[in-house]
Amino acid sequence: MVLFGVTGDLSRKKVMPAIYDLANRGLLPPGFALVGFARRDWEDEDFAQIVHDSVREHSRTPFREEVWRQLAEGIRFVAGDLADPEAYQRLRSTVEELDASRGTSGNHAFYLSIPPGLFPVVLTHLKSSGLAESAPGAWRRVVIEKPFGHDLQSAEQLNRVVGEVFDSGSVFRIDHYLGKETVQNILAVRFANAMYEPLWNSNYVDNVQITMAEDIGIGGRAGYYDGIGAARDVIQNHLLQLLALTAMEEPLSFAADDVRIEKEKALRAVRLPRELGKHTSRGQYAHGWQGGVPVLGFLEEEGISPDSTTETYAAIRVEVDNRRWAGVPFYLRTGKRLGRRVTEVAVVFKRAPHLPFAKTAVQELSQNALVFRIQPDEGITVRFGSKVPDTTSIQVRDVTMDFQYGDSFVDTSPEAYERLILDVLLGDPPLFPRHEEVELGWRILDPVLDYWASHGRPEQYASGGWGPASSYDMIARDGRSWRRP
Ligand code: BG6
Repeated sequence: MVLFGVTGDLSRKKVMPAIYDLANRGLLPPGFALVGFARRDWEDEDFAQIVHDSVREHSRTPFREEVWRQLAEGIRFVAGDLADPEAYQRLRSTVEELDASRGTSGNHAFYLSIPPGLFPVVLTHLKSSGLAESAPGAWRRVVIEKPFGHDLQSAEQLNRVVGEVFDSGSVFRIDHYLGKETVQNILAVRFANAMYEPLWNSNYVDNVQITMAEDIGIGGRAGYYDGIGAARDVIQNHLLQLLALTAMEEPLSFAADDVRIEKEKALRAVRLPRELGKHTSRGQYAHGWQGGVPVLGFLEEEGISPDSTTETYAAIRVEVDNRRWAGVPFYLRTGKRLGRRVTEVAVVFKRAPHLPFAKTAVQELSQNALVFRIQPDEGITVRFGSKVPDTTSIQVRDVTMDFQYGDSFVDTSPEAYERLILDVLLGDPPLFPRHEEVELGWRILDPVLDYWASHGRPEQYASGGWGPASSYDMIARDGRSWRRP
């Protein structure tokens, strides 16, 4: 694997540790080699030290000297400018040397952990240097990280650029949410059981709420985040993928194409409401307190322009316009500096049509819900009404039934990046969105982004709270309220 962008946060916190974790679990072939490529005056040992430090700090599994030693033997570094053709020739010699010495047999994955503005230059050179061309019986793959464009037009352009160098089966777009066990479990729960699917439609479901809340601010990512904002950063990809998995029909099989066909059909059916001002919300976190510490507001963060209109909170209401879901709103929301870190998909059911109890007995009863707890407290919760133990009267109150990963399974879940990197090496594509899905995501979001761009500024919201006032208003207009995760 050739890694571009070796000094970035993502490489150090996710990619390098995941490679080690795979090696530690015995899932990498012993000949696996990692080549770093960057404009740094480094030798192989310097790069190996960077990988070593990132592994020690961020790996999920324990550090074992013998695993590290074997991995380190395959670590190389090629110093060079991304635009320098000679650097790619040096890269070529390095991978050829590794093919010979470690038996990597011409199988090369190029991992572009770099800003998308640099994709064209790298891809052009991978092509002209011959690095992108696979020999018979060997594969060449490219891994790209979001953002996949900033609107439909730029996404199409990016897909064209990538498509000129690699055929579509060799392009692996990372949406790390799809690598999460709890996300994959949505399909397992829906389609491996008999008891949920009969209820999974507009006859029984009142609404679906997909929440991705973070307690952190933008940290040191001003350069990336300003101008992108919450909707492009996570609704376009992670939240729409969660929607697709929740709403899609049963695939013919779990083969990549069968799953993608159904996901795409669900995304194609997504409709925005006509009055976007009433059914969307956006905001910026204001300075305040979080967890007992004072925190800066978004506009005061280093690197953010004081008149930035980038949103750090976004919520939208959509519908999935097909027979299964007609009339059921899907509410999607995400934000930084909210009350706590939690991602969940809540399927909220309609109220029971009739209650044969005295009114006073069921005051506290709310709607049944099935909640996929994606993170951090991974599991599933079912909420339902139950009789309070008492001999003199019938009182019904909400209770929950919980499935926790830790209680049922011995092993901790692998990190999303472990699964995804392994799938790149195996050439197994179901967990990677193809370009149609990316473009459908922009088709849904573009009108919202255009609307916001021409309608004032995001509203300020309190750090540590649950978002701007307009987010409460948008759901209250439908006679509903957000779940308190
Ligand atoms: C990334 C976003 O895709 O997901 C970040 O760019 C966000 O802004 C991150 O913080 C959250 O990932 P996770 O796995 O912690 O939910």
